[in-house]
Amino acid sequence: MHAPSIRTEAALLDTLSAPLLRVVNLRKSYATPQGALPVLRGVDLSLAAGETLALMGESGSGKSTLLHLIGALDDADGGEILLDGINVTGLSEHARAALRRETIGVVFQQFNLIASLTVAENLAFQARLAGRLDPQWQARLTHRLGLDDLVSRYPEQLSGGQQQRVAVGRALAARPQLLLADEPTGNLDEAAGDAVLALTLELVAETGCAFLMVTHSARLAALLSRRERLVAGALATS
Ligand SMILES: Nc1ncnc2c1ncn2[C@@H]1O[C@H](COP(=O)(O)OP(=O)(O)OP(=O)(O)O)[C@@H](O)[C@H]1O
Ligand SMILES: [Mg+2]
Repeated sequence: MHAPSIRTEAALLDTLSAPLLRVVNLRKSYATPQGALPVLRGVDLSLAAGETLALMGESGSGKSTLLHLIGALDDADGGEILLDGINVTGLSEHARAALRRETIGVVFQQFNLIASLTVAENLAFQARLAGRLDPQWQARLTHRLGLDDLVSRYPEQLSGGQQQRVAVGRALAARPQLLLADEPTGNLDEAAGDAVLALTLELVAETGCAFLMVTHSARLAALLSRRERLVAGALATS
């Protein structure tokens, strides 16, 4: 047997200790009639596997913009996003679509369920697309999210809190490595919002994925393991 070269060992150690998500000097401007509007001016961020991070900042500070870039839903102007060692910013559209299906789950403020599909079909949707439908995990998610009696209903027949629980289940059904949520409790009353976040955190821990949540609520942010604030286009730890 050959001893591994120093170079190989170093590369291996690097992989083992590398964070799940690394954002380096990320930049994004929007074109407006008044000219380019710089929103992200060099964001640096690391997230370890299993870590939960609350992203805060004033309205218009670029939180959704950052989440969209990390979720491979939009293109950056510069910088890098490394997810599990893959440079998301350099991927083809085809590869980015695969990454969105298999590696990332997203929950939005508007629940974004598919109106023509039942709760069970909505729950299975992303996992089915990713070719990762696991009936046991699906049943467990349904049960843990309190949706057992609602599987045959359509989204319009659900309360906001119930719809968001379906959206959380759908985002976790393919066992993503990273769950992104943009103000997931923003459209819910306090009790329903608290219940959704508590269940999400339990299921995130069970899945072992990292969780990045945008919120305006310091009270909810305190439930996550870390907090960062977007100020003037960059992150300030708060
Ligand atoms: N597609 C777009 N074209 C032009 N400007 C945009 C676009 N999307 C966002 N912006 C602008 O970029 C800035 C950041 O928007 P973003 O939605 O990321 O803020 P946010 O921090 O999520 O705010 P909120 O807390 O209100 O959701 C805002 O000034 C917004 O008007
Ligand atoms: Mg936003």
